[in-house]
Amino acid sequence: TDPSLIRNFCIIAHIDHGKSTLADRMLQSTGVVSSRDMKAQYLDRMDIERERGITIKSQAVRMPWEVDGVTYALNMIDTPGHVDFTYEVSRSLAACEGAILLVDAAQGIEAQTLANLYLAIESDLNIIPVLNKIDLPNAQPEKYALELANLIGCEVEDVLKVSGKTGEGVEDLLDEVIKQLPAPKGVADAPARAMIFDSVYDTYRGVVTYVRVVDGMLRPRERIQMMSTGTTHELLEIGVSAPNPVPSKGLGVGEVGYLITGVKDVRQSKVGDTITNSIKPATESLGGYEDPKPMVFSGLYPMDGSDYPALRDALDKLQLNDAALVYEPETSVALGFGFRVGFLGLLHLEITRERLEAEFNLDLISTAPNVVYEVMREDKVMITVTNPSEFPEGKILEVHEPLVSATILAPAEFIGSVMELCQGRRGTLRGMDYLSEERVEMRYTLPLAEIVFDFFDHLKSRTRGYASLDWKADGQQIADLVKVDILLQGEQVDAFSAITHRDKAYAYGVMMTGKLRELIPRQQFEVPIQAAIGSRIIARESIRAIRKDVLAKCYGGDISRKRKLLEKQKAGKKRMKMVGRVEVPQEAFIAALSTG
Ligand code: GTP
Repeated sequence: TDPSLIRNFCIIAHIDHGKSTLADRMLQSTGVVSSRDMKAQYLDRMDIERERGITIKSQAVRMPWEVDGVTYALNMIDTPGHVDFTYEVSRSLAACEGAILLVDAAQGIEAQTLANLYLAIESDLNIIPVLNKIDLPNAQPEKYALELANLIGCEVEDVLKVSGKTGEGVEDLLDEVIKQLPAPKGVADAPARAMIFDSVYDTYRGVVTYVRVVDGMLRPRERIQMMSTGTTHELLEIGVSAPNPVPSKGLGVGEVGYLITGVKDVRQSKVGDTITNSIKPATESLGGYEDPKPMVFSGLYPMDGSDYPALRDALDKLQLNDAALVYEPETSVALGFGFRVGFLGLLHLEITRERLEAEFNLDLISTAPNVVYEVMREDKVMITVTNPSEFPEGKILEVHEPLVSATILAPAEFIGSVMELCQGRRGTLRGMDYLSEERVEMRYTLPLAEIVFDFFDHLKSRTRGYASLDWKADGQQIADLVKVDILLQGEQVDAFSAITHRDKAYAYGVMMTGKLRELIPRQQFEVPIQAAIGSRIIARESIRAIRKDVLAKCYGGDISRKRKLLEKQKAGKKRMKMVGRVEVPQEAFIAALSTG
């Protein structure tokens, strides 16, 4: 296709502002999907995505659209909608010339609207401001058009108004995409360069890689090279999604499509990498490539120890489709054999866990998630700690923890309350802007560990649900962090060790010892539960001794009842874990971890 007839764009929006609905409507308006075949949310392929109503993986669709008698090819590139996947969003944006900035006409601008807009501006995209859901009775298109115009510095009249639901304004929007966005530019006779913006494992076809060609041309049966690793592959098939795959004789400057090489593992075809021709390679890659970096680690253990090999196989399978998933075996006194698994964020963790349970039929326990620390030991060696148990005892010079820059949007009346929350989480205010009289944007730097677990819940409850949050990784800082261990009768219980700020160590110790005192049944002897930093005890509880005689309850001669009780006790024993001399039901560990 002649590059002047191509337009590459994406839709960026806050969650639930209607991106998928609008994308579906565009597929229908351009006729690539008939109303009959229209499955709601065509672009969300995975069941789990549909279930949760979120988009995790990006994909591109080519749609024809005619303006003034000329037919153009519109490539719509779908972007994932959650903070865990910021890097993937940035690569999808880099594959486009422009973005539709979609805002719910009943809600106005939200934190993700801003975060995505900033990313789009960093990628030099042209922005088309659009208000969606104008059919809603409580829509306030005039008010929010003004807000949006102020934000991006355009005229109010330039803000388009659509309804993805009724289709109103959608055809005009497609016209504007062609009129307002520039055609892609590239050098047709240069060595081929294409950027990978998505990579998906398919059971039948192996890895399907989505690319945007920048220079030159990629043709079937050529040998291609991944520029980050130098590995080469035969290009078996290349084509466009319309939205079903249509093979082609080659993709040239500005084109967007898929390719297949027969590799079986997405790590051989990495998002952000540049593909070139291995016979006539480009000298410079397109830039912007980053290795996926797990931000949050958690131990995953099968409830039933005999499921350990099944868990390993399941993780191996998931990794084919998920370059960001990393894991290695670990063992725990409390939980047995399992894996330490790295994730991009908490949502990524939840999705992975759900898939392991639903698709592989496993019952799992996960330990409290932790972020990754860099620790400088006394001998000046820097080590990476992904598990609290690896935290060196005593001899430490510095601990570095990951930081994020966060964007919080809230009604102005809640400023004080939001500030209080952020200060309690060791945050630093970086700036504050009023988007309108009643709405404020606050920018904070916060430790990742302080926001990754329950920060959003607290933010929501302090602002009666009106605040929105977005964040991205932003370097590291040195902090006064310590490891708190939990001891049962002097014996350390590894699954409960945590790395916390020194000021919060006491609170963690009190919370955890208190919880375990409730959960662990009495033994024949007194059991002290302690929280300690190194050898210093910071909190203490104890479980009083009892003489546990289950038969004492059965007065008289009902022998069958006695037998039943004895059997019950035996069955209960099987699920007991021994920590030193203390018997702990596995459920107690699970309960302590799950409410943590
Ligand atoms: P994520 O994929 O989770 O980011 O959400 P999304 O932005 O893709 O939103 P989605 O298209 O799933 O729409 C969110 C909700 O808004 C759904 O319940 C839609 O039915 C509804 N919705 C979307 N567009 C419109 C619209 O134009 N009018 C009305 N009334 N509702 C809409």
